[in-house]
Amino acid sequence: MDINGKEYLTIAFPKGKLFGLSKELFSRVGYTADGLEEKSRKLIIANEEKKIRFIVAKTADVPTYVEYGAADIGVIGKDVLAEEEKDVYEVLDLGFGKCHLMMAVDKAEKREKLTDYAHTRVATKFPHIAEQFFTKKGMQMEYIKLNGSIELGPLVGLSESIVDIVETGTTLKENNLEEIAHIMDASARLIVNRVSYKLKFDRIYRLVEDLRGTLESGEAKR
Ligand code: PRP
Repeated sequence: MDINGKEYLTIAFPKGKLFGLSKELFSRVGYTADGLEEKSRKLIIANEEKKIRFIVAKTADVPTYVEYGAADIGVIGKDVLAEEEKDVYEVLDLGFGKCHLMMAVDKAEKREKLTDYAHTRVATKFPHIAEQFFTKKGMQMEYIKLNGSIELGPLVGLSESIVDIVETGTTLKENNLEEIAHIMDASARLIVNRVSYKLKFDRIYRLVEDLRGTLESGEAKR
């Protein structure tokens, strides 16, 4: 067996919200494999005939697999990509997984202006993006890194605000939080390892063009 996967094109999909849409989009261009499921206990799922391997990784780890060439290609949200700042090519906006990053506060404790939050604590899964945003505003903040349920921060007195993603707005609404600053828009992106892009150029180029064609024809789900 080719353990390093040189003969194969290895693709990393993130677990969670983007998995199903990634699988669906790739299947439209013939990139499928039996047993490719989000919760599969098998970690590498191969299509021997087409020489494709899929790995299903924790979302924040996808850019790492691609940067080191353990995967040639990955699907990842722009939010995670901006946070991780990995050295990879971002080649295509896949259009799905649309959301935005923002700052929100407890409605009941809302201050008059953004700068009134300077020197307060902000809970976030995205400390780098948050720091870049507040630094541009000339605000020094204390960053508290959380890994999920960020909205809890202001509700239990851990922080005065959060920086997090919003998709439908339901979580903010249900927890009495209000968005007070938009930080960036995000959606799923296709990323490629820099060396793979040269060594496996023909296959990767064809795949990217097929995906682009499918997206432009409007066949893919959004
Ligand atoms: C994300 C995000 C918000 C929520 C926003 O959490 O952190 O909590 O989705 O979506 P909405 O605007 O549609 O309500 P996710 O479900 O990824 O889980 P997490 O709390 O573990 O981060």
